[in-house]
Amino acid sequence: MIADDFTIINGFKHIKYEGESFFEDEMIKRSQNYFDFNNKRRSIRHFSDKEIPMGVIENIIKTASTAPSGANKQPWTFCVVKNLELKKEIRLAAEKEERKSYSERMSDEWLDDLKHLGTDANKPFLEKAPYLIVVFKRPFEYDNEGKKHQNYYVNESVGLACGFLISAIHNAGLATLTHTPSPMRFLEKILKRPDNERAFLLLPVGYAAEKTFVPDIKRKNIDEVIKVY
Ligand SMILES: Cc1cc2nc3c(=O)[nH]c(=O)nc-3n(C[C@H](O)[C@H](O)[C@H](O)COP(=O)(O)O)c2cc1C
Repeated sequence: MIADDFTIINGFKHIKYEGESFFEDEMIKRSQNYFDFNNKRRSIRHFSDKEIPMGVIENIIKTASTAPSGANKQPWTFCVVKNLELKKEIRLAAEKEERKSYSERMSDEWLDDLKHLGTDANKPFLEKAPYLIVVFKRPFEYDNEGKKHQNYYVNESVGLACGFLISAIHNAGLATLTHTPSPMRFLEKILKRPDNERAFLLLPVGYAAEKTFVPDIKRKNIDEVIKVY
């Protein structure tokens, strides 16, 4: 069956693609502007406690949830934590893991690679930032009869959704930190997540504190990251 604005393939409806395209001049300008904007994104580790409307957080998460995913399974859950007691509980548990990581788990080479970031096991931003977004991946789903069904390319899909999330946070004029106080099973326990969810990333979201400094890192230049065939 074929209509003007939809068609049927394998018994499933396909709708018209509504993506925008641009004349070449506009395309060049937009791609340059988008790079310039994204090039200003930085991970920060000092947050203000200034409030942010919940609607903004919802828009950011809706954006993350537009990411592509294996077989469109969208194998993610974004938990938003604003409760002060819960944030404190998460901070204490994260710091406990981080203390162990810094003193026992990380190799000398790893610790050396982290030196330029100036980080340690203290994570006050986990209490200070108005919101924590805890991203969970869902390796499988249960159906109504309790039967398990695997999701596909779960790490790739959730990684992409987190990329979209970070970009949406930056677009809103806010900042975040991609944080991995591993192992992160404590997040599943504190937030009482179901057994088909595994903690993936922990992102404090907020405004940067006044006079926030960030490491003077350099990004690889285009010749180092592109190979044209
Ligand atoms: C998967 C992943 C895990 C990270 N984990 C941490 C972390 O636990 N703590 C931290 O301070 N930064 C963490 N970072 C942030 C990186 O240090 C940061 O992205 C990098 O130094 C580049 O800086 P930029 O984000 O400002 O460009 C992580 C980044 C990624 C992608």
